[in-house]
Formats: sequence, structure tokens, C-alpha cells
Amino acid sequence: MDIDLLPAVSLDREVDALVIPVAPGPSLDPTGSEVDARLEGALSAALRDADFSGKVGKTMVIPTLGRLPVRRVVVTGIGDGAPTADDLRRAWAVAARAARDAGARSVVSAAPPTGDLGEERAYRAAVEGVRLGLYEFLEYRTLDRPEKRVERFDIAGESDAARRGLAAGEAVAAAVSLARDLVNQPADALYPERLAAIAQETASAAGLECVVHDPAALQDLGAGAILAVGKGSVREPRLIHLTYRPRGTSRGTIGLVGKAITFDTGGVNLKPTGSGLEHMKSDMAGGAAVLATMTALAALDVPFTVCGVIAAAENMLSGTAFRPGDVLRAMNGKTIEVISTDAEGRLVLADALTYTARQGAEALIDLATLTGAAIIALGQQGTALYGTDQALVDDLVAATAWSGEKLWPMPLWDEYRELIRGDVADLKNSGGRAGGSITAALFLREFTEGKPWAHLDIAGPAWADKVSDYAGKGGTGHGVSTLLAFLERRAAQG
Ligand code: BES
Ligand code: MN
Ligand code: ZN
Repeated sequence: MDIDLLPAVSLDREVDALVIPVAPGPSLDPTGSEVDARLEGALSAALRDADFSGKVGKTMVIPTLGRLPVRRVVVTGIGDGAPTADDLRRAWAVAARAARDAGARSVVSAAPPTGDLGEERAYRAAVEGVRLGLYEFLEYRTLDRPEKRVERFDIAGESDAARRGLAAGEAVAAAVSLARDLVNQPADALYPERLAAIAQETASAAGLECVVHDPAALQDLGAGAILAVGKGSVREPRLIHLTYRPRGTSRGTIGLVGKAITFDTGGVNLKPTGSGLEHMKSDMAGGAAVLATMTALAALDVPFTVCGVIAAAENMLSGTAFRPGDVLRAMNGKTIEVISTDAEGRLVLADALTYTARQGAEALIDLATLTGAAIIALGQQGTALYGTDQALVDDLVAATAWSGEKLWPMPLWDEYRELIRGDVADLKNSGGRAGGSITAALFLREFTEGKPWAHLDIAGPAWADKVSDYAGKGGTGHGVSTLLAFLERRAAQG
């Protein structure tokens, strides 16, 4: 599908669907009023009769019954007052879906309202919405393949700001879609070595550097934690290191670190049936978000050097698997007593964080589907946010005003540090059930080399069990949009 800009909406050009934003109440935007006039009041009558609320997420498809070359009008609610970026993303996502489901192949959309966002952001949000709303993962479907497909989606607007918004929206949506694709891939197809190969291909297409550390290299690095997690699987672990360098002078180095357990059986502490094992192919969502984010940095002209480090391993159960009671030596020399082989994410991240800190990153941000406890605390949609640097935490929260993702700051109480103090080793990898997301974060902090660090526990939002406005079931690509908005905010701080 192509998304293009078009100088203005013409009601005299044949098109399958025309998208019009509608706020609650009787008034229509200029395009809406024009359509209403040409239909002799039928549009406003239809909205009134159907009691159309104008709320974000609501759409209505109104056929024009041959009275206009435009075959149908898709109205999409934009809510009261100035719409947020996420309102526009949602409104254009559901509009695109409604048009597609009505069988439209060609769609023209009125301009999105700019409100307080400015034109560029408004167009960007609408474009992200269209792409993400229409996202589908069909690689393995041979039966009942959806036949309805939008082929052209034109949006009224021709300013430079609209053009920039379109380009940025395309880059961000492509990144989020890549993260979704990776998460949706079954673990038998996407294992650490394959993820590394995809990272290499992606890097060369996006002009990034990419170094992959195999087990021999990890041995040399002293990365005993990731090696232990990976050793139960015939699919060997990899530490994937991508680097983005800005066009001009770099304004500093930021490290993004992702957990990529391509499948988490729990290992010897095997996850029970009924614990959602079939979704544990998504335990690489943090790594997917990091790889995806790296692909959009150039399009957004991010002025920092960004290190993207992905700790990839498969947590399997076999004769060569690590065991509860084993003592590991992490890259930073700290020893870890394994309490549970199912607390593997913090182990691979331990080495990845140390590695990234030693690459010269001045700030570290990790993303990980780390704990069920984060889901208990904040539900399926909330990301538990931790950090040792208030500015980093504040900027990440501020970035969600744009991304619409739900991040919630959580405490790193030093009093809980004793819960992860080891008996025979320095640390143990589980602090028990109580405060499980907090103790996991405290564990990670031990490997950050004192650098400003933030941790996003995305166990809940990385995977969706039900369809939402701009994500289907499965991988959501959560985190990508916030990371990019965060980097843009930092860039704007000068
Ligand atoms: N990958 C899981 C966390 C998870 C659970 C993600 C559900 C998404 C949905 C992680 O590796 C894990 O198993 N964590 C354990 C830690 C415990 C053993 C200390 C958990 O949360 O139960
Ligand atoms: Mn686990
Ligand atoms: Zn896991």
C-alpha cells in the first residue's frame, strides 16, 4: 500500500472511501460540510440518526448511493478538545480498518486536525495509525487469507510539515511493524543465530554497524551469564551489537539493551502448562524493540550515537542445561547463584548491560519481558519503569505523551537489595514472589557500571491477547515508539 499526500480532497474524483474526522456535536470540518452539502444534508442526518458519538475509536461507514463519485464516507471520531497524538493514531487506524473492511481499495482522507500538536506531528500520527491499524502477520496463513486490501491511501495536505510528518510516520510504523513481525515469528524459525542474521541484514540496509558475538567470543568476553542460559539449547546464544552514528557530530552515546529469549521454557524450572508457554516466543520482544528502533534513527535524524545491544538465547531444558544451584560468573566478575532457571532474562541482561556500559554509553536503557510480577502490578498494558537517574525516567515518561504507551515509575528500594544477596555467591537471581519486578530491577542495577540507567519491564504490553485500535493479537512492537520519542526529545533539549 502507498500512502501519499494530495493537494486537496476532491469530491469529484472516483475513490472507494473518503475519511472524515468528526468531533462530538453537530459541527463538521470543512470537508465534512462540503460532503454534507453535496448530499443535501444526508451526512449530518446519518450521524444524528445513528447517534454517532464522535469518540476516538468510533467509526461509521456511510454509502453515498451513487450521489457522489466518492463511493462511501468513513467518519472517524476524534473526541472532544485538542486531540493527542495517540487520539489521531487511533482515529486513523480504525478509519483505515473500517475502509478496508468495507472493501475499499482506494482511500482519500481529509487532513488530520493539528490541534496543539503542530502539523508535522499530526500527519505523522495519522500515518502511523494507518500503517499500524492495517498491520497483519500472514506469513504462515494459507487458508482464509484476507482478500480485502487497501492499495492507496491519500491524505490531503501539501505543506513541508505534512511531508516531514509522512516520512517520519512511515519510518516509525515500519520499525514498529518489524518489531511485531519478529515477535510473531515462531521460535523454531527465529532463534538467536537467525535473529543475528536478520540484525546483520537489517543493519546493512539501514547503514548501521553490526557485530555479532558467538559463544567463543562470549567466552573471551567472560560473559558467563548469557552462556549459562544458552547452554541447554542446540540453538547457541548470540550477543548482537548494532551501532548508529549520526550524520553530523555526535552529541553523546546512548545504549539500548534488549532481552531476546527466543523461547522461554523456564529451563529446569519448567513453566507449567497453562502459564502461557505458547506465548513465550514473545520473550524476545525487548530485543526486537531495540533492533526495530535502530532502523528509524536515521530517518528521524537522531544526533546521538546509539548502541543497540541484543542478548539472544533460548532457555531450554536438556542434559546440557544450567541448573538451580549453579554459580555463574558474569562479565563484570560478580558471581550469581541460580535460584530459578526461569529467571533467565536478568542473567542475559546482566552481561549485555555490562557490555554496553563498557562500549562508552553515557546512559543505558533496557527493555525486557522480565517478570510476571510487572503484569500483576500494572496489568497487561502497563510497563514498569525503573531508573537510577531521575532525568532519564522523567524524559521517558514525557515521551509517552507522544507515544501513548503506558509507563509507570516504580521504586528501586535499597532495603530490598538483601532479597537478592546470595548465600554462596554475590547475588542470587531470584528474590522470591514479593516485589518480583522490583527485585529483578535491583538485580539488573548491579550490572550497570554506575551509569545512568533505566529499565522497562514490558512483560505485559509486549504481547496482546485481544485486538486494540492499532494492534492486532500478538506482538505489539511496544517500546519502539517511546524510545524514538525519547531520543527526539533529548535531541530537542539542545
Ligand atoms: N519471560 C518471563 C516473564 C514473563 C512472564 C513475560 C509472563 C511475559 C509473560 C521471565 O523469564 C520469567 O519467567 N520470570 C519469572 C521470574 C521468577 C522465576 C523470579 C516470573 O516472572 O515468574
Ligand atoms: Mn523465564
Ligand atoms: Zn523470560
